Amino acid sequence: MIGKQFARIVVCLALFALIGATGLSPEVRAHAPAHHPAKDGKGPAILLVTFGTSVESAKAAFAAIEKRVRAAFPKTEVRWAYTSKMIRKKLEGEGIKIDSPEVAMARLMDEGYTKVAVQSLHMIPGAEFHELHVNTRLFAQMIDGIDQVMVALPLLVSNETLEKALKEVLTKVVPKERKAGEAVVLMGHGTHHPSDAIYSALMYKAQKMDANMYVGTVEGSPSFDEIKEQMVARKIKKAYLIPFMTVAGDHAMNDMAGDEPDSWKSQLTKAGIEAVPVMKGLAEFDSIVDMYIEHLKVAMAHLK
Ligand code: CO
Repeated sequence: MIGKQFARIVVCLALFALIGATGLSPEVRAHAPAHHPAKDGKGPAILLVTFGTSVESAKAAFAAIEKRVRAAFPKTEVRWAYTSKMIRKKLEGEGIKIDSPEVAMARLMDEGYTKVAVQSLHMIPGAEFHELHVNTRLFAQMIDGIDQVMVALPLLVSNETLEKALKEVLTKVVPKERKAGEAVVLMGHGTHHPSDAIYSALMYKAQKMDANMYVGTVEGSPSFDEIKEQMVARKIKKAYLIPFMTVAGDHAMNDMAGDEPDSWKSQLTKAGIEAVPVMKGLAEFDSIVDMYIEHLKVAMAHLK
């Protein structure tokens, strides 16, 4: 009797070790048995996770995201978490308390939510997404914890999403007064993570779509010097600078449009190219937010 029970526990544990460790497809995970009986738990809940921002004007983009998420999933609990410790500390100094993803998950668990969809509001599946994916899913392994955690994909995760995002930028963010021969420069963040390659793919697709659209990054590749050289060689006279980020935050204000000599605006001006910054974050555009909502819908559909 005890032997049989023990065998069952071992099988159960082995199954969950497998599911937990391999990152099986959502389809497979959705059909896996719950490792403890459903409690009279609340849920599902949605956790929106972003790097965060301390720039006041950039917060409008987050408010716009929340509004659209609430409209798409009425009566669903929606919470926020910021991955950036630096931003959380800074906001705490201003009396604003924002949770890390881990604290937000613990809170949801404590309050009895048994199913959580975590939406990564990052641009690419980079280091922050990777960490978010690992850490939040561990909450589904705790006894009497959350039964199911689904992490929804960030924005740029396929050929289709890269092309759609570029098309939206070209048709909605680029000012209408842009004339033929004037450049559009997108500032991506860039990263040491292998997914930095997405920005090069983006550059390739951008130039296929519009020969004078460029993608540079602050911390990765393509570098700003690379695209500046191209623009100089092509005798570009004017360029619109657009942050390829959810919010027009610190990087947009300083690295892109700042007055310091090393900002993109200053460097282009020095190279004889008139630089016009467009201070809008991509999340200020409904069609971009809807791309995230599509990913969230996939995650929510698996929380059954
Ligand atoms: Co940064």
